[in-house]
Amino acid sequence: MPAPIVALAYLLAAALFILGLKGLAHPRTAVRGNLMAALGMLIAVVVTLFDRQIVSFEVILAGLVVGGLFGALLAVRVPMTGMPQMVALLNGFGGIASALVAGAALLEVSGGVMPSLQMAVATAAAGLVGAVTFWGSLVAFIKLQGLALEKPVLLPGRHGILVMVAVLSLALAGWLVADPSNHLAYWALVAAASLLGLLLVIPIGGADMPVVISLLNSYSGLAAAATGFVLQNTMLIIAGALVGAAGLILTSLMSKAMNRSLTNVLFGGFGAQAAAPAASGDVYGGRVKSGTPEEVAMLLEGARRVVIVPGYGMAVAQAQYAVRDLVHLLESRGVEVEFAIHPVAGRMPGHMNVLLAEADIPYDKLKEMDVINPSFQQTDVALVIGANDVTNPVARNTTDSGNPIAGMPILNVDQARAVVVVKRSLSPGFAGIPNPLFAADNTLMLFRDAKQGITDLIAALKQV
Ligand code: TAP
Repeated sequence: MPAPIVALAYLLAAALFILGLKGLAHPRTAVRGNLMAALGMLIAVVVTLFDRQIVSFEVILAGLVVGGLFGALLAVRVPMTGMPQMVALLNGFGGIASALVAGAALLEVSGGVMPSLQMAVATAAAGLVGAVTFWGSLVAFIKLQGLALEKPVLLPGRHGILVMVAVLSLALAGWLVADPSNHLAYWALVAAASLLGLLLVIPIGGADMPVVISLLNSYSGLAAAATGFVLQNTMLIIAGALVGAAGLILTSLMSKAMNRSLTNVLFGGFGAQAAAPAASGDVYGGRVKSGTPEEVAMLLEGARRVVIVPGYGMAVAQAQYAVRDLVHLLESRGVEVEFAIHPVAGRMPGHMNVLLAEADIPYDKLKEMDVINPSFQQTDVALVIGANDVTNPVARNTTDSGNPIAGMPILNVDQARAVVVVKRSLSPGFAGIPNPLFAADNTLMLFRDAKQGITDLIAALKQV
């Protein structure tokens, strides 16, 4: 294929990626953005296949069929709540693919020819970052799936070990750059970086996983960009750099939302509960009030402004459609209803936005934390549906740095005149700590599955 046509096609694909990313920034344009980026990827793959002298399309087709089937099966079977694990796994596959391709390129080039300095540096970077991404993502997947290692694993002297393995990895990378035809140096580097990936993620607790996953996502992009330099493929460099940059921006946003510095997440063993959290008995002390749908309906009937706070439980119960019906009913009675969206509510960035958009809840009703927080004092009822950690006042009040949510900005629901919490029990949320909100004077608990609870509430409201 003539070089100018390839360059033009790559330019088009890159433009589609950028427009796609821009589209993903808003729920209204997200689907179109996704399709644009997918089209860009299709163009990039097809053009690359025709540009390079592919020896056998059969193997590529077989790979496409097996990989495509596996991917489609996963996409259909994985529930929305399992998305973070799935994303972790996909990041990992991206990382290992980069490390393997760079290794294969090294084998091919060094058959007689001496690899250039650029290729040697890029190969070392792809091997290092790719292997860290793969093993780090695998551990993140295992933790999030609840298969093992759920609690942070804090090895004695872990910081020293980490520094030693990092230095060893860099030394091996240096060895490869100094002697680029040395395959042993490359695979030794991949082995050391694999250990580094494992060591980096095992001490990180569940509460920090969102940050880790977005960081690993960024790494998978950087590894791909490095492989792009190895293969001298501009498209791969651009796509990798975009993923790397987008992942870094997301990481920074997530760290801010959880009030963590990235260094603290990576090296602080955060999520490891240094001090044992208070037992739920001490926090609740028999002060929790449980209500019926009828009682909650009476509260809502007298309200002028209601703020709904969705959380992970709404996703588990798939209660978003019932919630939409409740909003319609309240609005038909002149109640002003808004949604308070915490940046880490649920289990993935934008989780609540996606669910509520699915139920056609107008986007302008969804208010971000900073916007809605000052208005809780003028709110008659804060209706918390399956949310827990993101409403926990302990995050605001504690100075105990061992507390997994210490310092995390929260939704100030406790400042509303009345709070209703719909969840099945007093079980803790993701961070595993009790929530004093449930025992507050102005809180009424509606102990039910979120969908059932809202459905019962609608029925009760219709009777009032
Ligand atoms: P959580 O604090 O995890 O609490 C969810 C609550 O939902 C649980 O206490 C549970 O209580 C309730 N629940 C579960 N199934 C339910 C059902 N069928 N009906 C009603 N309630 C149900 O949720 P959150 O407030 O959304 O906070 C999110 C947490 O996840 C944060 O700690 C965050 O750091 C973490 N995290 C976030 C992300 C991202 S990116 N969003 C990724 C990973 C982790 P019951 O069992 O008593 O019902």
